[in-house]
Amino acid sequence: MYLNQSPVIPKTTFPIVIIGAGGIVRDAHLPAYKIAGFQVAGIYDVTPHKAKLLAETFGLEQAVFDFLDLLIRKARETGAVFDLAVPADQTLEILKRLPDGSAVLIQKPMGENLKEAREIMDLCRKKSLVAAVNFQLRHAPFILAAKDLINQGLIGKVFDIEFKVGVYTPWELWGFLKNKPRLEILYHSIHYVDVVRDFLGDPFSVYASTIKHPNTNVLGASRSTIVLDYGELRQARILTNHGHDYGSKHQESYLKIEGTEGAIKIQIGVSFDYPKGRSSKFEYYSKKVSEKDWQEVPLIGDWFPHAFIGPMASLQNNLNKPLAAFPNSVDDAFQTMRLVEKLYESNEQGGLVFK
Ligand SMILES: NC(=O)c1ccc[n+]([C@@H]2O[C@H](COP(=O)([O-])OP(=O)(O)OC[C@H]3O[C@@H](n4cnc5c(N)ncnc54)[C@H](O)[C@@H]3O)[C@@H](O)[C@H]2O)c1
Repeated sequence: MYLNQSPVIPKTTFPIVIIGAGGIVRDAHLPAYKIAGFQVAGIYDVTPHKAKLLAETFGLEQAVFDFLDLLIRKARETGAVFDLAVPADQTLEILKRLPDGSAVLIQKPMGENLKEAREIMDLCRKKSLVAAVNFQLRHAPFILAAKDLINQGLIGKVFDIEFKVGVYTPWELWGFLKNKPRLEILYHSIHYVDVVRDFLGDPFSVYASTIKHPNTNVLGASRSTIVLDYGELRQARILTNHGHDYGSKHQESYLKIEGTEGAIKIQIGVSFDYPKGRSSKFEYYSKKVSEKDWQEVPLIGDWFPHAFIGPMASLQNNLNKPLAAFPNSVDDAFQTMRLVEKLYESNEQGGLVFK
């Protein structure tokens, strides 16, 4: 069966200037832009040798800038869009320095809490920035395939969504996460929350519990149980445990979507043995097709790097035609941040006391 797995690439593309030259730019932004044919006109990092090293790896030596002001000037001259990939606590200060009216893609999360998300949204409005947030899982080939299958009516009406993750995540790769009060939901499950919103919209009510691992004292909570309720019949659950340090045999990472006429099961490969990963896998079961068993659809790409094409394409499509749907807009991302804030609120309220 053919299922669409690609985002709409803009007919006219804009050059990109990148701020922050860390792991995610190396592993996902630059490889994705290469696949999509987006031109990178500049890279800047507050630690200049990191930008240089990265540029060398991707043959972009001419695009390195040692000062943010020079990168901004380059963007002005070339009509480039900005691509921010810095720790969340740096976002606001960098946005303040961008020229009014710029187009900018901001790495998730949108600030470290709802207060910061609101400040980012207000600043984007004040400066008339055309701004999007990089919630890219919505654009992963397996998510686009699931949307296509659902839109064709092949699994009926969706009433249950479950993300389950039981892996060992080496959080020490991200030094800036040490001693942060919020970890798992804000930095990882936020992708799943955003995807559930993309499929089902905003929930009516939520419950959440997020808890630390006994073997670490410098990290925030890394195991979460999240329930998003949509009235009497529809529910989404997100269950994560990033401390499964017992070999690869029983690691789990999947998304399961159940509908009245069938179901979809996706193995999400990137989270296994991070950052090595495994391949993702897409299977579906439909009572509406002749083969009454699970069928596999080959994937043309994965979360890393292919999903990273989507948010940049979405931003550039919006620049070309501002009335087009703008799924990663700052306003939509703010709703995901509101939902994340509610989850932390629910966690703080705690469960009903039993003893
Ligand atoms: N799937 C995803 O969307 C995904 C995955 C990983 C990380 N991220 C996000 O991407 C961002 C960066 O993560 P990373 O893994 O690349 O981290 P990293 O630590 O590898 O890189 C961050 C880079 O930003 C640079 N930097 C810091 N402050 C800066 C400033 N003011 N100006 C310019 N450069 C600055 C650092 O020198 C560093 O090179 C974080 O917000 C993280 O949450 C997103």
